Amino acid sequence: MDAEIHVREVGPPQRDLLVAMYDRFDPPGAAFGLPPHSAEGRRRWVGRTLGQRVNMAAFSTDGEVVGHCFLTAGQPGSAEMAVFVHQDSRRMRVGTALVQATLAWGAAAEMRRVWAVTPPDNRAALRLLMGCGFRLTRSDPEAELEIDLAATVNWCCASPGT
Ligand SMILES: CC(C)(COP(=O)(O)OP(=O)(O)OC[C@H]1O[C@@H](n2cnc3c(N)ncnc32)[C@H](O)[C@@H]1OP(=O)(O)O)[C@@H](O)C(=O)NCCC(=O)NCCS
Repeated sequence: MDAEIHVREVGPPQRDLLVAMYDRFDPPGAAFGLPPHSAEGRRRWVGRTLGQRVNMAAFSTDGEVVGHCFLTAGQPGSAEMAVFVHQDSRRMRVGTALVQATLAWGAAAEMRRVWAVTPPDNRAALRLLMGCGFRLTRSDPEAELEIDLAATVNWCCASPGT
C-alpha cells in the first residue's frame, strides 16, 4: 500500500468524509446495489454502517477517505464484512490493509467467524478476501467466503516461517 495512506477506525464524526468518498464512487451499486445510487440513500446507508460493529477507513495525506471496511452487528462472535475502495486507489493494497485492520479488530474482540458475500464474478473481491485468509464456502448463486479467526493465530503479523 502507498505509505502515504493510513488506516484507522472511524465513527459518526467521520460520516461526511465517508459520504464524500461514496459520492465519487464508481460504479455505484457495485456490490448488491451498494453503495446506493441516490445521494440521500448513500447518506442514510453510511449512517447505518456507522451504527454497526466497527468501521475502518483508509485516508490519503490530504485527509480524504479512499476506502472503507466494516463489520455488521450480528450474532455474538460472528459478523459480515464489506469493503469498498475508491476507484482511483484500487490495486494498491488499500483493500488488503483495510481487511487486515478490520480482522485484527475482530480477533481482538474475540470474534470467531467473519464472512462476506459477493457476486461470483467479482474477481477483485474474491482475490482480496482469499488473499487475506478467507475460504470460499459457496459459489452459487452468490460467492460466500468466511474466515475462522480463532484458528488463524497471528494471521495479521505472521511472517514466513513463524
Ligand atoms: C474489491 C475491492 C475492495 C478491492 O480493493 P483493492 O484495494 O483494489 O484491493 P488490493 O489492491 O488490496 O488487492 C487485493 C488482491 O486483489 C487483486 N485484485 C484487485 N483488483 C482486481 C481486479 N479488478 N481483478 C483481479 N484481481 C484484482 C490484487 O491483484 C490483489 O491480489 P494479490 O494479493 O494476489 O496481489 C475494490 O475493487 C472495490 O472496492 N470494488 C467495488 C466494491 C466491491 O465489490 N466490494 C466487495 C464487497 S464484499
